[in-house]
Amino acid sequence: MAETGLRLEQLTKRFDDHLAVGDLSLDVSPGSVLALLGPSGSGKTTTLRLIAGFERPDAGRVVIDGEDVTPLGPADRRFGMVFQHYALFPHLTVGENVAFGLDRRGMSPAERQSRVAESLALVDLAGFQSRAVSALSGGEQQRVAVARAIAPKPRVLLLDEPLSNLDPSLRERTRRELRAAIDQIGVTTVFVTHEQEEAFALGDVIAVLREGQLEQVGAPTELYEEPASQFVATFVGRASTLSGVVINGGRVRVATGVEWPMSAPVALVPGQRVVVTVRPESLQLSEDVGLRGTVTERRYVGARAYFTLDTEVGAVEFAASVHAADVGETVWVNAAGCRAFPAETA
Ligand SMILES: Nc1ncnc2c1ncn2[C@@H]1O[C@H](COP(=O)(O)OP(=O)(O)OP(=O)(O)O)[C@@H](O)[C@H]1O
Ligand SMILES: [Mg+2]
Repeated sequence: MAETGLRLEQLTKRFDDHLAVGDLSLDVSPGSVLALLGPSGSGKTTTLRLIAGFERPDAGRVVIDGEDVTPLGPADRRFGMVFQHYALFPHLTVGENVAFGLDRRGMSPAERQSRVAESLALVDLAGFQSRAVSALSGGEQQRVAVARAIAPKPRVLLLDEPLSNLDPSLRERTRRELRAAIDQIGVTTVFVTHEQEEAFALGDVIAVLREGQLEQVGAPTELYEEPASQFVATFVGRASTLSGVVINGGRVRVATGVEWPMSAPVALVPGQRVVVTVRPESLQLSEDVGLRGTVTERRYVGARAYFTLDTEVGAVEFAASVHAADVGETVWVNAAGCRAFPAETA
């Protein structure tokens, strides 16, 4: 089988004694989008810089379309990149910005112009060539940066939080346009974000990084429904955390008389202490049974609301219709399902 797309093989990068990226292996199939998701400092930018060749790994390989590019410098890897804190050249026009990476490719001026026009059309900015960069909105500037990255027809597109300084409504629209442009050119893409919603909206596959290590890689639904660790369960989507004891293979006790059906990434034995995570939408109001608590907060999200419930075993969050409960009220909730992880031995 021909090796295509992007492959990272056991990449490791240290800065002095700090492990920025540790033994990272990932496959990105051709034309698909991998979202690299993780908190600040988890090694996302470092990973992109290793792919681009701006950093040399201490160990491991970067393979693009079957070619080991690890020994190559950035200029020979044929990637396009939008940097985390990117500034366009403010004194150049939109067209000059997009043409920037094409100058050294021996193209005729006519070829260059048509490539610029093509790239701008892909990000929905057809005809913007002679506009001043300073006269564009934030979202338009981000799209110019993307147009510049894709203009040389890269084998891999690397995007480092390209939407992070846009306001939410603009961000959502720009995100859709970005995904449409990526699909149209079919370029293998690695997209960095620290926001779960963005990773879910853009990524075909999501890789969760924590302190330079891969926590889990999978489709969005997989990460959401079958988190492999407590970290993923709470970092990807909302979840409350409780401690519990395994009753039998399928149930966990989280408080006296409160037992919930559970699933787990590893085999658990009765009596084992576990950490339990439960999604707000898995918790339902119930009459006089389940976990009892006082509603301390209600946050509206359209027709539904998130409620914070103060219970004897800690705070939990449940989702219900806005009028399901009032702040100050005593209610009971039960879980239709939860996730259990072996308690870490400190
Ligand atoms: N050139 C460098 N020299 C020393 N340490 C560095 C260097 N670049 C990154 N680091 C460290 O490596 C770790 C990973 O950094 P990186 O920039 O990859 O994180 P990140 O996931 O992109 O974070 P953010 O979401 O804040 O952008 C951090 O602890 C950072 O301080
Ligand atoms: Mg970063």
